[in-house]
Amino acid sequence: MDYYELLKNLSESKIDLVVTDPPYNKKKDFSNDNLPTDKFVEFTDKWISAVSEKLKPTGSLYCFVNLECLWMFKSILDRYLVFQNLLVWHFDSMLRKNATNYENRCEFVFFYTKSDEFTWNHQREPPSDMTLRSWLNRADKDGYIMYDDLCESDKARFKRENYDKSPRNVLRGPPVGNVLRFARVSSRSKERMGHPTQKPESIVEIFVKASSNEGDLVLDPFVGSGTTMIVAKRFRRRFVGSEIDGSFYEMARYRLDEEVVSVRMDEFFTTIDKFASDD
Ligand SMILES: C[S@@+](CC[C@H](N)C(=O)[O-])C[C@H]1O[C@@H](n2cnc3c(N)ncnc32)[C@H](O)[C@@H]1O
Repeated sequence: MDYYELLKNLSESKIDLVVTDPPYNKKKDFSNDNLPTDKFVEFTDKWISAVSEKLKPTGSLYCFVNLECLWMFKSILDRYLVFQNLLVWHFDSMLRKNATNYENRCEFVFFYTKSDEFTWNHQREPPSDMTLRSWLNRADKDGYIMYDDLCESDKARFKRENYDKSPRNVLRGPPVGNVLRFARVSSRSKERMGHPTQKPESIVEIFVKASSNEGDLVLDPFVGSGTTMIVAKRFRRRFVGSEIDGSFYEMARYRLDEEVVSVRMDEFFTTIDKFASDD
């Protein structure tokens, strides 16, 4: 259905988190992705204002955008919500064309909230190659560096008794930053459904974990192949979404049914493990 039909039936301040990837008007990706500029601005304003009304006071919104519509989206989002960050999604590009300009290796994600009091669960990103290269050979099998294995300059910075209370763990990466490195969903990727603008589950996972809790309600007004729904389901959030195109709707439905099975299988194996350890 059209997102507006869905939102009409949702009461205000109900949604904890919106993660969405709206039409960018690139004029090629799907049937209604080809509006005159003024109509596109109107369309964008309408959905952002409608979705903002449904957010709880502690709610957040993540919105994918490309460079061309970055400024327009920001000016609209600023009217309804509180700006928190602009995340850069950096990916590698296999297209080695004879470029006459810098190759495009990023897209953007706006992070806005309904107010300055918002749900936030601190996330970490994987440790960098450089950290692993310089520290891993000194760490124990769980990634911890013992005081005696610190270099002399670090020993001078920490007292042994303080350090031992919370020793450094090389496998624990730094707090997540606003440059996120994730591969795009390629034609060979396992999660690939064939939607022209499918987003990676791993990047959506960060947003869902950072900005919602189990049982919270997640909305995506532009579901596409269902990436937000899948991730919400996997991490035990409730979810609701709309998709106007029948074939994309079927894609999302299929994917969601498969996800239900895999979540149940995980639960099944956890239960089996529990019985085995009880024995
Ligand atoms: C950029 S895609 C989303 C892709 C999605 N993030 C994924 O990973 O598969 C945007 C989707 O919004 C849908 N759409 C466009 N206008 C809509 C509307 N008025 N109501 C609901 N869905 C709409 C399009 O059919 C398209 O599938």
